[in-house]
Amino acid sequence: MLFLQLCVVKHGVVVTVLIINQKNNGFSARSVLKLTCLTLVSFFLCFFQVPSLNDVPLHYLKPNSLVKFRCMVQDMFDPEFFMGVYETNDPTLDSKQVKCGKYKDITEGGQVDFNSRNTVTSERQTFYCVPIPGESQWNSYAGTSQARVVPSTSYVPNRHKRSYEEDDEMDTQPQQMKESHGNIEPKRQETEAPSHDSSPSHCTSSLDLNFPLPGEKGPACLVKVYEDWDGFKLNDMLEVFGILSVDPALSVIADEREASSLLHPTEGMETVEEQRVHSPPASLVPRLHMLYAQPLVHNNPLLPSSVLENNDLSSVLGELASIRAELLTYLTHVLLGDSLAAEYLILHLISNVYSRRDVLPLGKFTLNLSGCPHSSPYTEHLYKVIQQLVPSSYRLCMSLHNMNNQRMVPRKDYTANRLVSGTLQLANNTSLFLDETQLEQGQLDATGVRNITALGNLITWQKVDYDFNYHQMEFSCNINVLITSEGRSLLPSDCQVHLRPTLNPPNLEEYLSAVQVAQVPSQLNKYRIYLSVARALNYTISDEITKAVEEDFVEMRKDDPQSMSAEDLHRLLVVARLLSLSNGQNTLSRDGWMKAKQLEALRMSRTQQQKCVNGNEP
Ligand SMILES: *[C@@H]1O[C@H](CO)[C@@H](O)[C@H](O)[C@H]1NC(C)=O
Ligand SMILES: *[C@@H]1O[C@H](CO)[C@@H](O)[C@H](O)[C@H]1NC(C)=O
Ligand SMILES: *[C@@H]1O[C@H](CO)[C@@H](O)[C@H](O)[C@H]1NC(C)=O
Ligand SMILES: *[C@@H]1O[C@H](CO)[C@@H](O)[C@H](O)[C@H]1NC(C)=O
Ligand SMILES: *[C@@H]1O[C@H](CO)[C@@H](O)[C@H](O)[C@H]1NC(C)=O
Repeated sequence: MLFLQLCVVKHGVVVTVLIINQKNNGFSARSVLKLTCLTLVSFFLCFFQVPSLNDVPLHYLKPNSLVKFRCMVQDMFDPEFFMGVYETNDPTLDSKQVKCGKYKDITEGGQVDFNSRNTVTSERQTFYCVPIPGESQWNSYAGTSQARVVPSTSYVPNRHKRSYEEDDEMDTQPQQMKESHGNIEPKRQETEAPSHDSSPSHCTSSLDLNFPLPGEKGPACLVKVYEDWDGFKLNDMLEVFGILSVDPALSVIADEREASSLLHPTEGMETVEEQRVHSPPASLVPRLHMLYAQPLVHNNPLLPSSVLENNDLSSVLGELASIRAELLTYLTHVLLGDSLAAEYLILHLISNVYSRRDVLPLGKFTLNLSGCPHSSPYTEHLYKVIQQLVPSSYRLCMSLHNMNNQRMVPRKDYTANRLVSGTLQLANNTSLFLDETQLEQGQLDATGVRNITALGNLITWQKVDYDFNYHQMEFSCNINVLITSEGRSLLPSDCQVHLRPTLNPPNLEEYLSAVQVAQVPSQLNKYRIYLSVARALNYTISDEITKAVEEDFVEMRKDDPQSMSAEDLHRLLVVARLLSLSNGQNTLSRDGWMKAKQLEALRMSRTQQQKCVNGNEP
């Protein structure tokens, strides 16, 4: 019954619109029909728990059944033609039948009559979709790791997710998700792909699933889109509901080109490489014929999506300040007693590109945490802490080897006609942890330098220039970049805090593990919700405060114009914004402005001192 209510709340909008429309009496039959359909679809999706490709291994799923998939659009292929309507001859019955070719890959029932006048050619679009890159282990959306399909012959994951014992996943997984596992028949379906389908000849070792990040797991999927495909963008986060198609014939066709039974017969002009990429074995890359796709506003499973969608944050606002205080204490411990660094880390974690002025992204707050201990795996632990707090993240070790060898920027491969992914093809709102402490002395080669440039562009302009050989295409993004460095750095940043530990635990690793273990799951969950909510809050500055800030700026420059540049003012305003939001205040107060100034003064004096220390070094 509760579930029913949840459904009604979630899809209440549709129903309400329907009712309003009826009241006005000014509705067309078409719109009512559409709304009714939508409502029915919503209820249908609610009541019949739809199994998810993210959670359930492919071989447990019924072919041609309704499934869902939470994913990122990694590539968009050219539109393809298919037979929307076709006619078949059944030789045994000596009869003809007209059939619909939508939501299918393979024709069924007898010989297709290609000369039939009833044939209708239609168009559809294919998206290559991958699971959202870098989802944390606590993020139950990412699916349980044992359920993820690991195509053993195609690649070897080199980064293992942590084991269950270390994790609090069991506590954070919403009840509903646990139940859904029970609902799926754990029985292999008879109709399913025969074993030859996964034989080495099909899963060639060179088939690369094209995940942006190394070591990612989980199914990639070819999503066939029948309507409004212009409304989707590359790197969109979606929850796709559709009909699963895993017909083994699909893979055979890729080899034998039995064009007659394919619903898109225009593929004859493809290169071998293209065929390989566009028609991979269905056992490895299933097809999903889209019925409905829900754009994801966020990927934090602890946050009901309605909270952000309707901007109904009033219920949580009051609590934010107290959660912030707890989080500050926790992060201070993690940062070896440095509460100033912890303050800035919170500001960084809730930063967000909220707008752009021309090309300039507003609201980003790349933090350079310098002075990190190098000798121990301190940064690795720090990353684990952050990974436990945000829904998706990635740690890029800036070793010479990685900088010279890892592909960062996605590149168009014209031969295979696909976008080859790279580390910087991430969904918006992913946290990127750049570990510069791993950068040893040595030479960056030309690609290494270009890779560093790409990182610099990401930090400064919040964009990645995808490489299309003859030209570059700019994709704007919203990625929080945290840099941990030891000293000299190759990258730009918005703000630098030099770590000043007040604790010196004899065994750093033991200390950090103890700090982490001391956080109970419910506490961590509060932090996770806090960070997502604070990040999504609106913010305004009243005219009165704007005036006060301007006057203050003039005042500060009066004695010493060097003391405060326009750049300093800009940063101060960003700090003031983030500081207010971190306390759940969505407007700047005089008090908030003063606090921001104090915080910045503390940070700058520390930087000044650090410069002196470094200057005095022999
Ligand atoms: C936040 O801003 C958006 C866009 O300006 C507006 O539609 C929404 O109502 C605002 N929400 C709140 C809680 O102020
Ligand atoms: C980064 O390095 C890889 C591997 O050497 C190279 O293929 C790629 O082109 C580089 N990226 C850029 C933007 O140059
Ligand atoms: C990511 O966020 C940026 C905001 O800076 C926006 O311009 C871009 O369209 C977003 N990308 C996607 C795929 O939504
Ligand atoms: C980070 O801070 C260190 C220490 O002052 C500085 O040398 C380095 O250039 C900074 N790095 C970035 C990315 O700003
Ligand atoms: C990213 O975060 C912003 C602010 O919380 C939110 O408005 C936006 O929908 C998010 N985008 C994605 C793709 O998560």
